[in-house]
Amino acid sequence: MGIWFNLCVMGKRFLITGGAGFIGSHLCESLLKRGDSITILDDFSTGREQNIAHLFQRGDVQVIRDSVENEAAVNLAMSTCDAVYHLAAAVGVQLIVERPVLTIRSIIHGTEVVLAAAQRFGRPVLITSSSEVYGKGAKVPFSENDDVVLGPTRASRWCYAYAKGIDEFLGLAYRKQFGLPNVIVRLFNTVGPRQVGMYGMVLPRFVAAALKNAPIQVYGDGRQTRCFCHVADVTDALLRLMSTAAAFGQVFNLGSDEEVSINDLAQRVVSICGSASRIEHLSYQEAYGQEFDDLPRRVPRLDRIRSVIGFVPRYSLDQIIRSVQDYLKQTGA
Ligand SMILES: NC(=O)c1ccc[n+]([C@@H]2O[C@H](COP(=O)([O-])OP(=O)(O)OC[C@H]3O[C@@H](n4cnc5c(N)ncnc54)[C@H](O)[C@@H]3O)[C@@H](O)[C@H]2O)c1
Repeated sequence: MGIWFNLCVMGKRFLITGGAGFIGSHLCESLLKRGDSITILDDFSTGREQNIAHLFQRGDVQVIRDSVENEAAVNLAMSTCDAVYHLAAAVGVQLIVERPVLTIRSIIHGTEVVLAAAQRFGRPVLITSSSEVYGKGAKVPFSENDDVVLGPTRASRWCYAYAKGIDEFLGLAYRKQFGLPNVIVRLFNTVGPRQVGMYGMVLPRFVAAALKNAPIQVYGDGRQTRCFCHVADVTDALLRLMSTAAAFGQVFNLGSDEEVSINDLAQRVVSICGSASRIEHLSYQEAYGQEFDDLPRRVPRLDRIRSVIGFVPRYSLDQIIRSVQDYLKQTGA
C-alpha cells in the first residue's frame, strides 16, 4: 500500500520494458506528458528508434538497449525506477510461428528476470498478458476466471498463449509468496499509429494494402471476429491501473467489446480509405506455411475493469481505422 501511495505523487521514474514498441512508445508518451521520467529497456527486435525519437524533447528519457533476459541490465534499471510496466515480449502471429524458441524465452525468462528484480528492489509491476490465454474457449465473451482451452503443443502458434499463461502464474505467485504488488492485464487486439503489419498484425496490413490499392488478403474465411481497441484507450487504462490500489493482485481484460468480423473489417478499411483494393481470401496454410488453428471469436467481458477504473473505450472502429490511415499516409510506412 505504501508503494502505491508513493506512485500517486507525480514525477516518478518508470521502467518500461518494450518501451520502443507500439504500445510501449505510447505509454512512454503519456507518462512524460504527466510529468514522470522514463527508462526504456528494449532490445529493438520489433521496437523501432523512430517510435521514441520524438520523446527526447518531451522530458527525462533514458534508453537501455538490452534484453529483458539480461539480469544485470534489468537490475540496474530497476534500482533507479519507482515502478515497472513490463511489455517486452515477442509479438505477432507470424513471428511467433516462425520463431517459437525466441517467443517462449523472451516471454517466460524475461518475465522471471523482471519479477525477481522487482522483488529485490520492492517495485510494483504491471505485466501485459494477452487474450490469447483464453485459447479456443467457447464461452464468449471471456471472463477473467473462465477455464481456458489451449491447442496442442505441436502447433507452435500456441506457445505464445502457454507462455503468457506462465507469466500470469509467475506474477500471481510472486504476489502470494512474497507480497510483490503487481497487476496482470490481458490485452485484446490493440491498434493505432506505429503498429506495423510485418509480424502479422491485421489492421496496419489491411490499411497499407488499401492505400496502395493492392489486394487485401483475409486469412481463412474471414468470418472470425475480433474487437479492436485504440492504443490511446489502452495506455490510459494502464496508467490508471498502476495508480489504483484495488487493482493490485488482480487479472484484468482490457480492450474493446465491439465485435467485428475480419471480412467486415476489410470492407470498412476499403470504404474509409476510398480504395480500389479487392478483398481476397488465403487459407491459413498459405498464409503461415503450416497447419494453423484460429479462433472464431474473441470478445472480452469488461465488468471487472469497469468496476475498478471505470474503463470505457472512447474510440470507435471507424476512428481507429482513420487514425491508422493518417499515420501510414504521414509516414509513408
Ligand atoms: N498489440 C496487441 O494487440 C497486443 C495484444 C495482446 C498482448 N499484447 C502484449 O503487449 C505487449 C506490447 O506489445 P506491442 O503490440 O507493443 O508489440 P511490439 O512488438 O511493438 O512491442 C514489444 C517490444 O518488446 C521488445 N522486446 C521483445 N523482446 C525483447 C527482449 N527480450 N528484451 C527487450 N525487449 C524486447 C521489442 O523490441 C518491442 O519494442 C507485449 O507483451 C504483447 O504480448 C499486445
